[in-house]
Amino acid sequence: MKNIAIFASGSGTNAENIIRYFSDSETIKVAVVLSNNRHVKVHERVNKLGVPSFVFTREEFVEGTPVINKLAEYQVDFIILAGFMNKIADPLLKAFPNKIINIHPALLPKHGGKGMFGMHVHEAVVAAGEKESGITIHYINENYDEGAPVFQAICPVLPEDTPEDVAAKVHALEYAHYPRVIEEVLNNVQ
Ligand code: GAR
Repeated sequence: MKNIAIFASGSGTNAENIIRYFSDSETIKVAVVLSNNRHVKVHERVNKLGVPSFVFTREEFVEGTPVINKLAEYQVDFIILAGFMNKIADPLLKAFPNKIINIHPALLPKHGGKGMFGMHVHEAVVAAGEKESGITIHYINENYDEGAPVFQAICPVLPEDTPEDVAAKVHALEYAHYPRVIEEVLNNVQ
């Protein structure tokens, strides 16, 4: 059994979708959810599904040890970022080399980098007059949104689409693909 941790900062709809996808799996288990925010919906969502969640301060994330200890407690093999808005600090990167993946709600390398998260991304896509957007699943390295890509899926952006319309299309792609891609990645990891 491989244990995964999900890091999430907000509503947690992806976290919920991933937990549901693996709920009957005999090889992959979502063991724990970590967040930088106590006041977000992800806790209620995942606790209802029987998955524990914990909150860490910014200092604890940057220093790393409390987070790494919590991950060790749950024997975590791999980390999935699903709407996690903090940069992953060095100690965690070193403790999980090539074992952290993220989903970005646009087609990287476009519309990525610092400050590009959640609705900001969809607003930028509409403002740029893009004809398409989508999702990018990628490994995490020391720079925002620059780790090796694993998978992309595309959706059309129509001239009349609002950022909310684009968000809905991108969310649909996330729900359809992220759990399956996680499964594929984990099946290829020792
Ligand atoms: C998702 O669209 C995810 O791709 C995005 O935040 C949303 C979280 O939704 N992540 C980023 O912007 C990371 N840079 P959720 O909390 O309902 O899963």
